[in-house]
Amino acid sequence: MSDIETIRDNYLAQIADADLAALEDIRVAALGKQGEISLLLKTLGKMTPEERQSEGPRINGARAAVADAITLRKEALEDAALAQKLAGEAIDLTLSAHDAPRGTIHPVSQVMDELAEIFADLGFAVATGPEIEDDWRNFTALNIPETHPARAMHDTFYFPDQDEQGREMLLRTHTSPVQIRTMMDVAKRSQGAGEPIRIIAPGRTYRSDSDATHTPMFHQVEGLVIDRDIHMGHLKWTLETFVRAFFERDDIELRMRPSYFPFTEPSAEVDVGFSVEKGKRIIGGDPYGANGGWMEILGSGMVHPKVIANCGLDPNEWQGFAFGCGIDRLAMLKYGMEDLRAFFDGDLRWSGHYGFGALDVPTLSGGVGA
Ligand code: DAH
Repeated sequence: MSDIETIRDNYLAQIADADLAALEDIRVAALGKQGEISLLLKTLGKMTPEERQSEGPRINGARAAVADAITLRKEALEDAALAQKLAGEAIDLTLSAHDAPRGTIHPVSQVMDELAEIFADLGFAVATGPEIEDDWRNFTALNIPETHPARAMHDTFYFPDQDEQGREMLLRTHTSPVQIRTMMDVAKRSQGAGEPIRIIAPGRTYRSDSDATHTPMFHQVEGLVIDRDIHMGHLKWTLETFVRAFFERDDIELRMRPSYFPFTEPSAEVDVGFSVEKGKRIIGGDPYGANGGWMEILGSGMVHPKVIANCGLDPNEWQGFAFGCGIDRLAMLKYGMEDLRAFFDGDLRWSGHYGFGALDVPTLSGGVGA
């Protein structure tokens, strides 16, 4: 074996059992600027072409073999070091994880869910309608005459332009147009024959109004029951059952006061009785006791025959009751917020305090009749 192969094999043998530090020394000794193989490569320049032809491949071959061996050995050593490190490391699963930031359910969403839950137990479906309404559904069909103050510009947000069909468009001022939409759908589906209806319609409503108890955008829930033999007794029982389930007390008294709404006849405003327990005002208890009293919570009545007829149903065959109630106020009464405007400020401290955990069990102690 010539010098070159001896030199090469010598390095290969060293490389085979070198550690990482030794490997670097070997690389410098063999392939560094003044390395043994590097110097051999330099001798090629002084050789005759014939010599170069035979020596060149040998020297270059030795250089490549040593360089490759160093790379492979280095990789093997690094892999082994990593494997050893991993084997020695254990993950401590008892350490608590970082708390991820968690959002909360807004009290309005929570109350809407509670409403849907309670009324589902009473056989009501949830209906929806658009927040951009035409004034026929928002007013006219509900028997609200042109001259009614609710139509005045200062209450209603009108759009500057009419829609393609030439209708006046607005942001709905209440959820009552969903009554119209529901009855019209039924009239259409049944080709005017009609069928029983039981719906609630929670959603956003808009009026040009702003103070501690009014915001330009607020929430209502509408209720509508249509059938052949519905009377005010059904209305009173339904509202009583709802209020008791919602406030989770059985001793809540309801009071109905005669009132006026264009779309109901007769109409009634409904108050809940409150009392004072441990210095705090609560819904329920004896409204006639010391500091007790009544608080208005909603408007209601028997659906006006004209409204039923406007929707294409026969008011001699079908009648029923309706009610409309502010959701924000329900939330304030149940969960104790003071300022309505804070509902819509988007302050995370407020949501953190009054919001509900998405995975928490529902606050309702049980459905209706539980
Ligand atoms: N739409 C009425 C309002 O916004 C509330 C209302 C009253 C709705 C009586 C009804 C009802 O369905 O029967 O003030």
